[in-house]
Amino acid sequence: MCGIVGYIGDKAVDTLLIVSLERLEYRGYDSAGMATLNGGKLGIRKQVGKIQILKEILKKKPLEGQLGIAHTRWATHGEPTTENAHPHTGCKNEVALVHNGIIENYAELRDELLKEGHILRTDTDTEVIAHLVEKHLNKSLLVAVQKAVKRLEGSYALAVISIKDPDKIVVARYRSPLVIGIGKNENFVASDASALLHLTSNMIFMEDGQVGFIAKRRVKVLDREGRPVEKKVKIVKWHLLGGPQKDGYRHFMLKEIHEQPAIIRNTLQRRISQGTERIYFEHTSITEEKLPSISRVIIQACGTSWHAGLVGKYLFEKYLRLHTEVDLSSEFRYRMPVVRGDTLVMAISQSGETADTLAGIRLAKSVFLDVLSLCNTIESTIARESDGVIYAFAGSEIGVASTKAYTAELLALFLLTIHWGTLKGMLSKEEAHEMVEELKKIPYYVEEMLDNQKEVLECAERYYQSSNFLFLGRRFNYPTALEGALKLKEISYIHAEGYAAGEMKHGPLALVDEKMPVVCIAPKDSVYQKMISNIREVKARKGKVIAIATRGDEEITKLVDHTIFIPPIREEFSPILAVIPLQLFAYHVAIKRGCHVDQPRNLAKSVTVE
Ligand code: F6R
Repeated sequence: MCGIVGYIGDKAVDTLLIVSLERLEYRGYDSAGMATLNGGKLGIRKQVGKIQILKEILKKKPLEGQLGIAHTRWATHGEPTTENAHPHTGCKNEVALVHNGIIENYAELRDELLKEGHILRTDTDTEVIAHLVEKHLNKSLLVAVQKAVKRLEGSYALAVISIKDPDKIVVARYRSPLVIGIGKNENFVASDASALLHLTSNMIFMEDGQVGFIAKRRVKVLDREGRPVEKKVKIVKWHLLGGPQKDGYRHFMLKEIHEQPAIIRNTLQRRISQGTERIYFEHTSITEEKLPSISRVIIQACGTSWHAGLVGKYLFEKYLRLHTEVDLSSEFRYRMPVVRGDTLVMAISQSGETADTLAGIRLAKSVFLDVLSLCNTIESTIARESDGVIYAFAGSEIGVASTKAYTAELLALFLLTIHWGTLKGMLSKEEAHEMVEELKKIPYYVEEMLDNQKEVLECAERYYQSSNFLFLGRRFNYPTALEGALKLKEISYIHAEGYAAGEMKHGPLALVDEKMPVVCIAPKDSVYQKMISNIREVKARKGKVIAIATRGDEEITKLVDHTIFIPPIREEFSPILAVIPLQLFAYHVAIKRGCHVDQPRNLAKSVTVE
């Protein structure tokens, strides 16, 4: 979380940094700030609130210079205030730095610095790093940062500048991503490649423990022991759907919801070879020979990606007869999983930077398990640290509430199941062909649903003032219930719970009365009659039922208060359709409540701290 960017070169530094920073705003938006060096002087502007406010300040009081660093914050230590905003400086205003991560031993370091006479002005953990660098600063900023980071426990990505060593930006990384962008007579640094893609495709991804600097015509990277490392420059070309423009949509979230048919269509074309109907997954060292020998899968992920993982479990068990567990990464990383050599750990992550998921991968690798990741962000840390990666190909997702990445993850899991099932001999060619043909209908079905939002809008109008919601589903659509509830709560701040419908009578039914809207995901599938019984239970307690049902289902319409239809599809693929009206519902409710859809309070897109 938090976004970092730095630039050294001849361009107008403040404008360049702001444009890059805006591409990182999804990482945090509590406050923003910038520091530049100009003629040996340090200039700083920072302000609580979004980048737009910083932009307005810079219009009135521009920052000039040949190099600079900037930051957009998601508060961890200390409230979101102007004082706590980055960049932070030491006592003498000789050093300015921006930081992403958490310094776990900051209280101890703070006490030590106070005893030494340093004056600390903020509540942040970051400020102690600025004072530590200042303390060690003689001539070389690089050496001072090397010494300072030796004292840090926790995680950090740092960009540091100083009037005492004014021709460089010193950078350091430990458990928080940092990438160096290589230009011509200019160089860049950022917490995320997406901040630099409009400036350069040549990137060096820093590794944990590395420290280095960027100068105008030079880049140096050192390892933990201070030895120069061979710099691996990667060409990152990510010209996919979903740039950082809203393309006429009012919000990124709405744009991303509408991108889903094209993403699904493109991915199907990309992954299924014409004629042979073979499914391809590139970038994976987990080979076709290896897949059939895997007899157990542990999927670990967070939030929406965890919901995709739950659908994966139902798929793998049904079609691959694979023992599959799904764990929240924040739990998995602290468990003592009982594993054997034939266990594959799958990590699912849109951003590819989620700290808990990354820690889960490291745990798996420490016990010599293979890790296959399903990621959306190309060349993200999770993608790079895994043995194999399947990209979701959803393009960059800017809206904090995940929509298109979720359906892209589901599609990848559908395709992987068909591919793996064929390799294992669990799916016949004919069956696989039928499934692929069904998948090809999905983009059209999603388009249909996006073209007709009448019922969704009516439900949003009718219930947007409710304080609580329940979402119920079974089997493949139990994760859909969880996802529908998560979408609603995160962007509209309405309390919503997702439940396996069969669990209702074990407690939650007590919540149901005439004021409780209950969204029931009930397509015509193998558990349809069970869902009907659950709906009757809710109606018997006077709850208001919104059903997500299969088009043409007359029976359900008689029973419920509102019906939103989805096209008929094979049961296992229904989550990708059923979630669309729930995404739209959350969006329209949030709009009616006047909420900030793309940047909901307290959240950030990329959760790089624990
Ligand atoms: C919800 C949402 C989050 C993320 C979670 C994991 O809309 O976006 O719940 O799904 O933070 O993030 P990734 O997938 O980037 O690991």
